[in-house]
Formats: sequence, structure tokens, C-alpha cells
Amino acid sequence: MNRTANIARFEAELGKVSRPGLDKLLEFIRRSDFYKAPASTKYHLSCEGGLLQHSLNVLDALRCLLTAKDEEGSEWFYIVAGRPVATVPDESVIIAALLHDICKTHFYVASTRNVKNEKTGKWEKVPCYAVDDKMPLGHGAKSAMIVKQYMEITTQEMYAIWWHMGFTDTASTDTLTLSQAIDKYPFIWALHTADMMASHFMEDTIGNLAKFADSPAGAAAAEPASAPASAPQFEDAPAIGAGA
Ligand SMILES: [Fe+2]
Ligand SMILES: [Fe+2]
Repeated sequence: MNRTANIARFEAELGKVSRPGLDKLLEFIRRSDFYKAPASTKYHLSCEGGLLQHSLNVLDALRCLLTAKDEEGSEWFYIVAGRPVATVPDESVIIAALLHDICKTHFYVASTRNVKNEKTGKWEKVPCYAVDDKMPLGHGAKSAMIVKQYMEITTQEMYAIWWHMGFTDTASTDTLTLSQAIDKYPFIWALHTADMMASHFMEDTIGNLAKFADSPAGAAAAEPASAPASAPQFEDAPAIGAGA
């Protein structure tokens, strides 16, 4: 995993977006631990830079899931059984994919766990990540709210980010509302599918799977699971209206 290249690509993709407040959102991201945070405690990309790699993987999966409307790729169709059920501007594809898990900033901390050394029979402390949610507001809804505090987003983008966990969101039992949201904005399901494709098919615990190691988002050598030496200071998103 080349974190420097991933940061450059992440910012280059967001650079294609023209939206009031993007500069403020980028400032927040650069000050936060977004570029160093893992994607999970122990499941997919549980390593430094994992969240960044996962966000780029979702973008790659989503673009391949959709069908370009024209050669410029400025708009995409979400096609089901040969018919488009949603039209999505490329800006929305970038925003939804790269920011769907921004709720995981200031969310993980470096920790240790005891693991038995099979050779010596002794228990040893190994580094791992634990959850320490500084802004306990849930998951998809939290991501949508953080983005919205800084930058204008379209309704379709808000719905997609809000419900991107689909029916896997164990914190929500409101499946009727989710079904209604998907009917209204099928892009939700495209983002959810791309998220699942990335975490299940593209990612290992410390890097991308070999098959995806040379994908544009790239993964060569994972960095060790450790938190930044000096963790960035947590800051609340600005009050609504102050972030635009
Ligand atoms: Fe998520
Ligand atoms: Fe995700």
C-alpha cells in the first residue's frame, strides 16, 4: 500500500469536484486522522492508511459497477436488467465513494491485545486497533452529516452516504424506511454493493488482496498496524451553516 500515492489520488479525485465548501472539508480531512486511520479494527484493511485505501477501492468498484453515459465519463447510469434506474453525475460517484466512511475519522485508537506465541507458549502483547468514537452519531448518517457540515451535497448523495450500509447496518432496524429510500434513490444500492465488493473481494486485513494489488488504488506493502506518533487533535464539525 502506497499511502503517499493514495493521498495524491484521493485529493486528485476530489479535485474534479466543484462544490462550495470542498476546500473546508479538505482542510478538515488533512487535519484529521483520515489518511492514517484503519478501515476496521480487525476485519478489512486494519492497518495504517486502511480507511484511505478502502475509500479508493470503493470508488474503483463503483465506477466499474456503473455504466458510463458518454465517453467523457461525466455521468453514469446504474443499469438493472438492461434499463437505467438511476443517473449519477461523476461528482456524486466521487463524493459518495470517497466520503461514505468519513465517520471513521477520530474513531480508532492504537491498542494492544494478548496473543499466545505458539513456539514459546508465552502470551505476548501485539499492536491492534480499538474503537474510541469521539463523535458518537452512528455510521452512515454521521458520514452524511460531517460532509454536510462543510460542503454542499445533493439529495441523492446524502441518501447514498446515509444508507450505504444497506441491510447490514446492525444498529438500524428501520428496514421499511431503508427500503423506501432505496426505491427513491437506487444509487444507495450501487454504493452499498461497491462497499461490499471492496471489503469482501478486494481487501485483506493489511492491504489489498494480491488480485487487486496493482489496481489504480494500489497496494504493494502494508504499513504496520500502529497509530500516528502524535494523534491529530479531535475537533467537532462546525455548527450547521458555519461550515459552508
Ligand atoms: Fe461504512
Ligand atoms: Fe465502507
